[in-house]
Amino acid sequence: MKNFYSFVGSDVGLWNVTNQNTIVGSALESVQRIEVINSPLNKLTEQGVWALQGFTSNVRYANRNEIVKLQAAQEGLNRNASVCAALIPIKKNAQWWAMSQDERRSIFEEQSHHTEIGLGYLPEIARQLHHSRDLGEQFDFITWFEFAPEHTELFNQLLAQLRATKEWQFVDREIDIRLEKK
Ligand code: HEM
Repeated sequence: MKNFYSFVGSDVGLWNVTNQNTIVGSALESVQRIEVINSPLNKLTEQGVWALQGFTSNVRYANRNEIVKLQAAQEGLNRNASVCAALIPIKKNAQWWAMSQDERRSIFEEQSHHTEIGLGYLPEIARQLHHSRDLGEQFDFITWFEFAPEHTELFNQLLAQLRATKEWQFVDREIDIRLEKK
């Protein structure tokens, strides 16, 4: 299960929570720290105050041209300078999931320019997308971003741009949790 990740909120863990902001929908209980574990949860010992689980997967929307551009520009997680992170769990509404793949792709890229916008923020922002919907979790996606402290405003700008798109009209729950490695 190498592609499986658990995000455990409690008062222990590598990442210190600096801000926890509910953007839309119901809140998650406030926690002080988050631990990221590269495996499914051990139900007896690792539940914390809350725990979110997801897995990395193949792309659904990116076309070849976009994949090539992403691979050329992006950098991986765990860079030494990336002591800031954001954990942003997201759920989309029933209308989104009732659409066909080509309808969703059209909203995601042709109408909202998600990848095109995001490409403008590489390599400063490193990202990893986790899928949760098929696990029956409370969120559909767990998104994770890492960056250096001086790129915090850049990251805020990226979020403002994405949240103004048509794609985000289908987001019915989003929690923005900011973290610092200390
Ligand atoms: C999906 C790129 C930032 C949330 C994707 C995909 C790409 C992408 C290419 C599609 C993956 C696929 O084909 O399945 C980027 C880039 C970013 C960025 C380059 C720049 C750092 C963000 C931010 C958020 C976000 C800031 C919001 C918190 C998501 C979500 C999905 C997604 C929720 C899944 C959408 C779905 O499947 O319905 N992103 N993204 N992304 N991204 Fe981003």
